[in-house]
Amino acid sequence: MASNTLTIIDNRTGKKYEIPVNNGAINASDLRQITVSEGDFGLMSYDPAFMNTASCQSKITYIDGDKGILRYRGYPIEQLAEKSNYLETAYLILHGGLPTKPQLEEWSYNITHHTILHENVKKFIDGFHHDAHPMGMLVSAVGALSTFYADAKNIFDPESRKKQTYRLIGKMPTLAAFVYRHSTGMPYAYPDNDLSYTGNLLNMLFKMTELKYKPQPVLEKALDVLFILHADHEQNCSTNAMRGVGSSHSDPYCAVAAAAAALYGPLHGGANEAVLRMLMEIGSKDKVPEFIKRVKEGRGKVMLMGFGHRVYKNYDPRARIIKQVADSVFEVKGRNPLLDIALELERIALEDDYFIKRKLYPNVDFYSGLIYQSMGLPMDMFPVLFAIPRTSGWISQWEEMLLDPEQKIARPRQIYKGADKRDYVPMDKRK
Ligand code: SDX
Repeated sequence: MASNTLTIIDNRTGKKYEIPVNNGAINASDLRQITVSEGDFGLMSYDPAFMNTASCQSKITYIDGDKGILRYRGYPIEQLAEKSNYLETAYLILHGGLPTKPQLEEWSYNITHHTILHENVKKFIDGFHHDAHPMGMLVSAVGALSTFYADAKNIFDPESRKKQTYRLIGKMPTLAAFVYRHSTGMPYAYPDNDLSYTGNLLNMLFKMTELKYKPQPVLEKALDVLFILHADHEQNCSTNAMRGVGSSHSDPYCAVAAAAAALYGPLHGGANEAVLRMLMEIGSKDKVPEFIKRVKEGRGKVMLMGFGHRVYKNYDPRARIIKQVADSVFEVKGRNPLLDIALELERIALEDDYFIKRKLYPNVDFYSGLIYQSMGLPMDMFPVLFAIPRTSGWISQWEEMLLDPEQKIARPRQIYKGADKRDYVPMDKRK
């Protein structure tokens, strides 16, 4: 008997099956041969929320959740955060290797020269209420880009995919800045091609009447490091949405809109906003023990936002780096007074049995909001700032899915628990 197999004895029939094990997994379709009678559909695996199901093979991001390791294309996140910049990291994620100097120049040039939006985009951003959530506006606006680029439908044309990649990575900061300026009633500020990716974003967010905006270098660098940390994270909820929607062969703008919509939720990318609201609600350091008590008694109803992760059962390596970035920003902008509450929450949580037993540690969203707030951004912009860098990860995962011969339209099975067949009851006979 081959050693890399799993032997299953079906006690319902007494039959024995040998199922191959590859890469530490069995293929769920191999279970289908296990039947109890003729016409039986075959055995399925039941896995709500994909707790133990690999939906793809991927070469992009590696996470070891127990050890707290994160690598893009094999490169440790700590090295990339220290030595790379966001556009280089985006290239790495999308192309599989670090660029040469000319490759990086060409890549950066192309992204920089796709930052301008069609003027009509402004018209529909204008249509949103002044208090519309920026993430709702971003989701709609990026989906609407689908209507501007009919060529995006040619998803199996590598040249078309390349072009949409430039457009999406180039235009996301512009969309983000425009929705922000709309919220604040400020005139839209156009991209400045002389600036770096994050320098230009700061320009479009904060430019006032000056002729040339000069980004604060520490903030520009801090934002760039945050963008590297957020660029990809294997099969998270929004990436799963990107792959799932993309699997029906929608164009990438619609798929990115779906991914951004998934990111919006407070259990995912919306957590950075929720953390700030939680810190403000706690109000002061001395109220932290009381809040922790509420979380423990709430048993899932009151959450310590920015804590816990499906994969990390150790400190999220990104949170460690973000803490250092926060120090550099606070040196320039002054210490965020909410930091003391966050540090106290972390200190108490890491010593508390409830959190230790469940392996709950700070995740990427715990400290990032404090940095964005110190930069002068309102809380509801935080998920938008997550979506910008995640776009490169989404596109990369989408392309990998499209080119993977094993992938098809994503279509899970279900276990039906509803009513058995019954006949339609006319209105006058209903009780
Ligand atoms: C991101 O997946 C990714 O990679 C995502 C991300 C990325 O880069 O794409 O890393 C970005 O989304 C970070 C996560 C941001 N979300 C939050 O900070 C929200 C708070 N966190 C939780 O909702 C939760 O930890 C999740 C959603 C992140 C993970 O949920 P799981 O894996 O389904 O775990 P679970 O909810 O089943 O929790 C297990 C236990 C439960 O207790 P018991 O029922 O066993 O008693 O831990 C408890 C939970 O109640 N728990 C928490 C908690 N998180 C989990 N209790 C209090 N506070 C928390 N934050």
